Amino acid sequence: MPDAEAVKEGKKYYEDVPQETPGFFLKGSGALDWGMKNRLARVFNPKSGRAVMLAVDHGYFQGPTTGLERIDLNIVPLIPYCDALFCTRGVLRSMVPPATTKPMVLRASGGPSILKELSNEQICMDMEDAVRLNVAGVGIQVFIGGEFETRSVHNMTRLVDMGLRCGIPVMAVTAVGKDMARDARYFRLACRICAELGAQYVKTYYVPDGFETVTASCPVPIVMAGGKKIPELDALTMAYNAVQQGASGVDMGRNIFQSDAPVAMLQAVAKVVHDNMKPEDALELYQTLKEKK
Ligand code: 5RP
Repeated sequence: MPDAEAVKEGKKYYEDVPQETPGFFLKGSGALDWGMKNRLARVFNPKSGRAVMLAVDHGYFQGPTTGLERIDLNIVPLIPYCDALFCTRGVLRSMVPPATTKPMVLRASGGPSILKELSNEQICMDMEDAVRLNVAGVGIQVFIGGEFETRSVHNMTRLVDMGLRCGIPVMAVTAVGKDMARDARYFRLACRICAELGAQYVKTYYVPDGFETVTASCPVPIVMAGGKKIPELDALTMAYNAVQQGASGVDMGRNIFQSDAPVAMLQAVAKVVHDNMKPEDALELYQTLKEKK
């Protein structure tokens, strides 16, 4: 029987040896078809190899979260400053101007609200609609260890099959239940399962201890999830550490749109992600941009 990661010390992740990327700039993506690669290259900047995604999909289970009460007023002005927007098809059709050339990644799972068991999700859109909306990818929640673990994994694998048929990449989002440990061991398990079962990239949380083992043991790109609002310097430090430790970018929501100056924060995060700007310098940039406004 395979071990259940009992002896972490016995494992070798070779964190300091980057995975080779023949055929394409993104890790684990060299064997994908042209359309899939082209869509990935719209989200991940081919120069830096990284992406700054702005996550505003929260309403799909939380309703009008703080900072997302009015997408037209709070979020549309931020679109020019991100590399891609992660939103629902409802928001896309009702509030995102179709003239925008920014790539869109659509939330494709849903079902339960915050009032119910969150892992009980289903696929909530057709891939045909994703094609119709000309999106650059879709995202789906996977609840490893959750009550409906198997269903959520099966949702993801079905979505991956649909995506492969039309060249649309799937981002698996590792969702952690309230009482579950958020540590590197858990995220290694969750991210690896998502990659093994076909996700083209994975969104996961940063952990201060051992994040580089999470990225090293995941054969496809990882984007860091933001999580609840923390002070700007802490959020910039988290993003900096994540990309230095192997993440291919971020998909951040509340730490951007709940900031006092969301446009400034988004620009500061972009500097950290694409130009390796140090968190303290990025904070200074944030403050300067905030004051200018
Ligand atoms: C939950 C999600 C979100 O709905 C959202 O994208 C989270 O963003 P943030 O935590 O940065 O506010 O994917 O897992």
